[in-house]
Amino acid sequence: MSLQKHKIVVITGASSGIGEATANYLSSLGHHVYGLSRTRPNKETYTYISCDVTDKSSIVQAIHEVITREGRIDVLINNAGIGTSGAVELSTKADLSRSLDVNVVGLVETTQVVLPYLRESKGMLLNLSSVAGILAIPFQTYYSMTKAAVLSFSKALALEVKPLGVRVACVLPGDTKTSFTKNRSQPAVLTNDVYRDRIDRSLKKMERDEENGVSPMNVAKVIHRVMGKKSPAIVNIVGFSYRFLVFLSRILPTRLVQWILYQMYAK
Ligand SMILES: NC(=O)c1ccc[n+]([C@@H]2O[C@H](COP(=O)([O-])OP(=O)(O)OC[C@H]3O[C@@H](n4cnc5c(N)ncnc54)[C@H](OP(=O)(O)O)[C@@H]3O)[C@@H](O)[C@H]2O)c1
Repeated sequence: MSLQKHKIVVITGASSGIGEATANYLSSLGHHVYGLSRTRPNKETYTYISCDVTDKSSIVQAIHEVITREGRIDVLINNAGIGTSGAVELSTKADLSRSLDVNVVGLVETTQVVLPYLRESKGMLLNLSSVAGILAIPFQTYYSMTKAAVLSFSKALALEVKPLGVRVACVLPGDTKTSFTKNRSQPAVLTNDVYRDRIDRSLKKMERDEENGVSPMNVAKVIHRVMGKKSPAIVNIVGFSYRFLVFLSRILPTRLVQWILYQMYAK
C-alpha cells in the first residue's frame, strides 16, 4: 500500500446512503474521493463521475478519467447495490438478472478494470456484502444470493492477488437506514396468490428494521477502519449485535437457525 496519507479512493454508488456517507466521510479526512453513480449527488463533497456499473464501457471511461487526473488508485470500494424482494416462484428472469447485473457482474467488472491499478499501488479492494449474505433471508432470496456471491468472490480473489500485494476485504452491514428500502424492487403479487400475506408481513418487518437501522455513517466508519489495516479480516460485520448473531448462527444447528429465520421472515 502506498505510504501516502491521503489515498485516491474510487467508490461506486456514492450518490446515496452508505456510499454517500462514506464518500463524504473519507473526503472530510482529506482523501481524494471519486464517486461513481448514475445520478449526480445533491451535495458534491467528492468528485462525481457518471457511471453505470452494468455497462462495462461506462466503467472503463470512469476509471480512465480517474487515472488521467490522478495517475493512481489506492482503494476501490464496490458499494453500488440494489435490493429485490418477492417469492422466487413468482419472479421473472428479469428480476434475477437485475440483481445479478448490479450486485455481482457490475462489481466483478469494476474490479477487473481497477485491479491493474491496485496492483501498481499495492492497494485495497473493499466490497459491500451484507449479513443477508450469511443469513439468507426468504422473500429476498436473489438479494441474499448476490451478497453471498460477493463474499465468495472476495475470499477467493483475496488469495489470487495476495502475492501481488493487493488486499481484499468485505464489509457486511445489517439493517441500515438508507434509500435502499424505498429503492428495493417490489414483488410481483397475484390476487389470491399463496405467498401474498407472508410476503407482506416479511417485507413490512424488513422495512421497519431498516428504518430503525443504524446510520450509514456507522458503516462509513467501519469502511474507513478496514481501509487503514495492513492485514484486514476478510469478513467485517458492522455492529456488535450482528457480529453476535452471525457467531450464534455458526455454532447453532442449521435446523435451528432456519427455524428462527422462518419465524422472523417467512411465517
Ligand atoms: N441499507 C441496508 O440496510 C444495507 C444492508 C446491508 C448491505 N447493504 C449494501 O450497501 C450498499 C449500499 O446500499 P445503500 O443502503 O446505501 O442503498 P441506496 O441508498 O439505495 O444506494 C445505492 C447506491 O447504488 C447506486 N447504484 C445502483 N445501481 C447502480 C448502477 N447500475 N450503477 C452505478 N451505481 C448504481 C445508486 O446510485 P444511482 O441510482 O445514482 O446509480 C446509489 O448510489 C449496497 O451494496 C447494499 O446491498 C445495505
